[in-house]
Amino acid sequence: MSRLTVDARSAGAVINRNLYGNFSEHLGHCIYGGVFVGEDSAIPNVNGMRTDVVEALRAIRLPVLRWPGGCFADEYHWKDGIGPRGQRKKMVNTHWGGVTEDNSFGTHEFMELCRQIGCEPYINGNLGSGTVQEMSEWMEYLTFDGVSPMAQLRAANGHPDPWRVKYFGVGNENWGCGGNMRPSFYADNYRRYQTYVRSYGENRVFKIACGPNGDDYDWTREVMEIAGRYMQGLSLHYYTVGGTWEHKHSATQFTREEYYELLEKALFMEELIVKHTAVMDRFDPEHRVGLVVDEWGTWHQVEPGTDPGFLYQQNTMRDALVAAVTLNIFNRHADRVVMANLAQLVNVLQAVLLTRDDRMVKTPTYHVFDLYQEHQDARLLACALDTGAAGAGGHAVPALSASASVDADGEVHITVANLADQGAEELELRLEGCRPREIRGRILAGKPADRNDFDCPSRVEPRACTVRPEGEAWRVMLPGCSVAALTVR
Ligand code: AHR
Repeated sequence: MSRLTVDARSAGAVINRNLYGNFSEHLGHCIYGGVFVGEDSAIPNVNGMRTDVVEALRAIRLPVLRWPGGCFADEYHWKDGIGPRGQRKKMVNTHWGGVTEDNSFGTHEFMELCRQIGCEPYINGNLGSGTVQEMSEWMEYLTFDGVSPMAQLRAANGHPDPWRVKYFGVGNENWGCGGNMRPSFYADNYRRYQTYVRSYGENRVFKIACGPNGDDYDWTREVMEIAGRYMQGLSLHYYTVGGTWEHKHSATQFTREEYYELLEKALFMEELIVKHTAVMDRFDPEHRVGLVVDEWGTWHQVEPGTDPGFLYQQNTMRDALVAAVTLNIFNRHADRVVMANLAQLVNVLQAVLLTRDDRMVKTPTYHVFDLYQEHQDARLLACALDTGAAGAGGHAVPALSASASVDADGEVHITVANLADQGAEELELRLEGCRPREIRGRILAGKPADRNDFDCPSRVEPRACTVRPEGEAWRVMLPGCSVAALTVR
């Protein structure tokens, strides 16, 4: 048996709703076919955006969406994606399959997508191959309310009113696909480019600098030292890769050892956040700069028969567990982590949704975001978890992972995952500082390789679970490979 004690009086940092954000890149069928089908499509849509996808994202209260990349962002020239669609300049998407990008989804379409979902846009600018002027003009085009060349161009393209864009990334992975820069060179460029990313009127820009690749603490140190005072956010990218980058494991066929290897790698996120936070603390002890984990998630072999450049992978209960433990880690570090964006939204990597023609599937990962949504903007509660270990083949993980929060109405929300691939674990739950009348539970459970697909879209779905009082405590049985959300009333 494991024991979890939650101190209901300990309300700490606000869990920024943006920890539950997502990422959409011009990659494979994320944008085209995934969210955008065009107004003339037979697939139900509003202004070209798939109705099923928009509705599913509204249901999990998607708070923020990053676009247009990724590596694509540092090759993207935004002016090619405005104006009459038929006249837009085409380009080669060199990173992702070498396909022709016709730019039919551009700035106006992205802002329309965010409007329909009801989420904040997070736009990533091009520092790798774009100019300072181009980046500056994009923000003017988006947000300037008045007479200016870019505001007039926006009006001529059918949108006289400015949009509100808070989150802006100044380059992506500039240590790699975004220009192969060294940290000091990037940091100086960041200082220069961000100078011209203006806050117009009431639109206050939250500028996000390109941060480290995984455990590259030197990058964090140098960028913070040179440019820390010019940014509000610093990004971190970390993917959970089964096997090696050269030889990745399958998304759906894996051994027990590979299951635990993947979870062990997912849990490395905690060490990354702690260590990068320690480096940031040297230059920013007040935590003015937020850590923005704007790319995270599992990266497996592509599905057999699909274009290797499209990064299309299936998504199982194992991926759901990766999401659950990672989101618990983000919650627990809400004092420094202010945003996170799962890679990616639809049809790419650890997608929350998969589409095929007019059909759509909610993945197990989608259901984790559903179960965790009550944490958005709630305040973190202190937890003490006493649990054993699970593992196989030299890979060991804690049996359970948990986090807890209290919302504005005083309801306590607890999310807990059983990482064991098999074997139920009973959890004894104690709440300090409150006397619950009832605790309601929902649980997502299955075998590690269980998944939803187009023939069987509801194989894995949350169901109600019983949490029973026992003296001063409460007890719930968590099947192996499960994720539960408990609401205390
Ligand atoms: O998400 C896929 C790619 O992974 C992104 O384009 C890039 O930023 C990262 O390397």
